[in-house]
Amino acid sequence: MVEETQRYFKGKTALITGGARNIGLAIARDLASRGASVAIVDICHDLDTVPYCLSTEADLDNSVKELSALGVKAVGLTCDVRNENQVQNTIDRVAEEFGKLDILVNNAGIISLFPLKEITEKAWDEVLDVCLKGTFFCCKYAVPYMVERKYGKIVNISSVAGLRGLGLSIHYAAAKHGVIGLTKALAMEVADHNINVNAICPGTVESPMLEGLASQIELEKDTYEHFSKGHLIKDRRITPQDIANAVRWLASDESRFLTGTVINVDAGWTARG
Ligand SMILES: NC(=O)c1ccc[n+]([C@@H]2O[C@H](COP(=O)([O-])OP(=O)(O)OC[C@H]3O[C@@H](n4cnc5c(N)ncnc54)[C@H](O)[C@@H]3O)[C@@H](O)[C@H]2O)c1
Repeated sequence: MVEETQRYFKGKTALITGGARNIGLAIARDLASRGASVAIVDICHDLDTVPYCLSTEADLDNSVKELSALGVKAVGLTCDVRNENQVQNTIDRVAEEFGKLDILVNNAGIISLFPLKEITEKAWDEVLDVCLKGTFFCCKYAVPYMVERKYGKIVNISSVAGLRGLGLSIHYAAAKHGVIGLTKALAMEVADHNINVNAICPGTVESPMLEGLASQIELEKDTYEHFSKGHLIKDRRITPQDIANAVRWLASDESRFLTGTVINVDAGWTARG
């Protein structure tokens, strides 16, 4: 339980995409437990080329209940970040309901694993559209609310795959590298409005997506172990809360001189280049 003195996001409002579960939910829970009003948005249906289930309406409802129980205002909205109209309506609705939008966390993301010759246009589009175009749309419609009040914190969840190549995922690597480019360019554009834009690159995090990927490549051994071979720290696993800890700092005023930067929460993976 967080003490009253630590509720330093009281009065702040945050929107987290892909917030119905896992990393997104951990971020929402962390900000809410420190006093922020939170809106979680999620697609709530599966996508054809993604080898695991995405969140459901029930996941979204349960997550909102959990967040509301922390004593803050919490709303859950179904929204596909690939759809510009849906994103615009969702952000307008959240800003209207909360009166403003201080923090945007672009966390929604999907992955699939295919060798180059097997990546269909649909698989390419789904990954690029959720991870990169969705981040663009959310920034496009959230930034005007931040400019209006001369305050904003945007945190984009990229990946180690945004910094280096990963096997069987040129589409995911392209999208996550793109998120870092977008982060830097947008930071330049909005700095004069007191808006910070930063990215986080997680290493392998415990998640439902890992199990789906394991089935796609017929992996039989421990999935986390397989996908975290690059980690230098081997005796502990990166959890969604580890990512939420970094987001909390970037969303707070303690990191006010960070913008256009990237924090790797990757157990040392990228230390070896
Ligand atoms: N888990 C890892 O090892 C890992 C590593 C590096 C980066 N990441 C990134 O972290 C983020 C969160 O990953 P996670 O492990 O929590 O995955 P997850 O699959 O558990 O959660 C992703 C959430 O995004 C939602 N979503 C998917 N497409 C959407 C869309 N079009 N619109 C709105 N919501 C959508 C899903 O329903 C789900 O609730 C992703 O961007 C992912 O790429 C994860």
